[in-house]
Amino acid sequence: MNPTPLLEKARQLRADFPILSQAHPSGRPLIYFDNAATAQKPRVVIERLSAFLATQNANIHRGVHWLSQEATHLYEKARETVQHFLGAASPEEIIFVRGATEGINLIAQGLRRAYFQPGDEIILSTLEHHANIVPWQLVAEELPLRLKPLPLTSAGAVDVSALPDFLSPRTRLIAITHTSNGLGTRTPIEEIVAFAKAHDIPVLLDACQSIVHEAIDVQKLPVDFLVFSGHKLYGPTGVGVVYMRHPWGRKLPPYQGGGDMIVRVTWEKTRYAPPPAKFEAGTPAIAEAIVLATAIHYITDTVGYDFIQAYEAYLTDLAEALLRDVPGLTLYGTARPRGPIWSFNIEGIHPHDLGTFLDSWGIAVRVGHHCNQPLMDALGVPATARLSLAFYNLPEELQTLQEALLAAVEFFHKPLPSLRHE
Ligand code: ALA
Repeated sequence: MNPTPLLEKARQLRADFPILSQAHPSGRPLIYFDNAATAQKPRVVIERLSAFLATQNANIHRGVHWLSQEATHLYEKARETVQHFLGAASPEEIIFVRGATEGINLIAQGLRRAYFQPGDEIILSTLEHHANIVPWQLVAEELPLRLKPLPLTSAGAVDVSALPDFLSPRTRLIAITHTSNGLGTRTPIEEIVAFAKAHDIPVLLDACQSIVHEAIDVQKLPVDFLVFSGHKLYGPTGVGVVYMRHPWGRKLPPYQGGGDMIVRVTWEKTRYAPPPAKFEAGTPAIAEAIVLATAIHYITDTVGYDFIQAYEAYLTDLAEALLRDVPGLTLYGTARPRGPIWSFNIEGIHPHDLGTFLDSWGIAVRVGHHCNQPLMDALGVPATARLSLAFYNLPEELQTLQEALLAAVEFFHKPLPSLRHE
């Protein structure tokens, strides 16, 4: 493969991200490798947010006046953008929430009240983020339910061969991550969905880390529920999406009560609005949802998933080759296919020390348990350092990372000067 055209496009796109051209306080260029935590924002997103607040801000669904009508139109158009982005059948299936975490809580509480029975079972995986564990534990404590995490292969992918053993007559849901935020490994979701369909079990897909790197079409991948957060997809914080396949939105009760989710309120009884309004109590993240649509158009029309896939595959090969050359470095989870995210440790260096050392080189990585404590337990480590890439990262940044890691090995392994008493 000739990477030159890909590199040219990456350099052009990088210029869309003002934050990336600033220097780190050390004077070095800022190298941002914490994209799985949150992605940086292109200028169109920043400017759209400012333009909305400066000229179009009003509450929605509540006003007959011009600004409110305009804001309502933009908000509902944003919903249609997300609908087309995911291939959903109708805007009714798209619910705006504050983020994927709220989305999973909304689904969990709805299923708890309208679907689960005591003793039911949910299949998850060892890779899950706490956001796809704790909401189920809250429900499980009440009912009770049993949570069954699928094990991993030695290469760190979900071991789908274990699925038949995990299935029981009480299995009522499979809730699983698409791409691991800790290891970057991609779940063989097509096989899991086929298995679930054959056994009439609904599937919830945590697409937070995958949708950043690959297009998802819910007609081709017929999951029942899907969640993602706007801020990881180059959009604002405070907004996320729940895709809820029809007729789940009709079956599940509201998550929260309040304004904008009702047809009629009386002291005796309240009739709820149909979905999606039923799940959007109170004033939603209006500006953020509208700007998320701008981010989605930027990704699909300006960047393009074909480019993202091709360029990130190139960066993936390079990153793995460079990391493997660092003495004492252990990479956790090397399975492919994968997203451009890697967890690693270097022998004799605590990941927090490594993170601080890298920061002194202007390099931002995440260190810690990555909201993946059960995964860390399975790996037998308390924490890792995590490298996570975006399409605006450049090969020379990876070269600098390798240089910094080699410097860290030398620095931390240097014998301490002996203390001599004269
Ligand atoms: N879920 C985000 C991460 O993995 C915050 O870093």
